[in-house]
Amino acid sequence: MAKVSVLFVCLGNICRSPTAHAVFQSLVDQRGLTNIIDVDSAGTGDWHLGHAPDRRSTEVAAMAGYDMSALRSRLVNSDDFYRFNYVVAMDAKNLSDLKKMAPTDFTGNLSLLLAFSTQSKFSSIHEVPDPYYGGGDGFPLVLDMVVDSCTGLLDYIVTQINRPNNV
Ligand code: 4NP
Repeated sequence: MAKVSVLFVCLGNICRSPTAHAVFQSLVDQRGLTNIIDVDSAGTGDWHLGHAPDRRSTEVAAMAGYDMSALRSRLVNSDDFYRFNYVVAMDAKNLSDLKKMAPTDFTGNLSLLLAFSTQSKFSSIHEVPDPYYGGGDGFPLVLDMVVDSCTGLLDYIVTQINRPNNV
C-alpha cells in the first residue's frame, strides 16, 4: 500500500500546527496506521526555529492525553510540496502563503484544517484562530477544533486509501 504523508502548517509552528501534529499522530497510531501515514508540522515564520511548542499548548494537549514534548519548530519549504500529499493550513493567511510557495506541479491536497471539521458548532468557522497573543482560553478551543478536524481528515484519508483505484 502506498504511503500517505500529512504536513500541518501554521505561523510559528509552536501552537496550532504542533497541536495538530500530535493529535493526528495519536489518531493514526490508534487506528494502526503508523506505518502507512507519516505526519509532520512546520511554520511559515522563523521566530521560533528549533524551539519546543508553547507551554500553554503543551499543557492543554497533555491534559487531553496528547504528547507534544518531542516536537520542534521548523520552517516550511518548497521541498515539502514534493514530500507531502496533504499540506494542511490552520488559517487563511497560512493557506495563501503556501499557495504562493507551492510549485506549479504540486499534485497534492492543499487545504484548511477546518474544511475537515465534522461538528456543527464549527460549521461556520473556517480558520483555527491564532492563540499566541490571546488569553489562555484560546488554547482549549484550538485543541477542540484540532481534534474534531483531525478526526475528519483521517476519515477522509482512509476513504481515499481504500478507494479501489488507489495504488
Ligand atoms: P502558531 O502561533 O502559528 O499557532 O504557532 C504563533 C506563535 C508565535 C507567533 C505567532 C503565532 N509569534 O509571532 O511569535
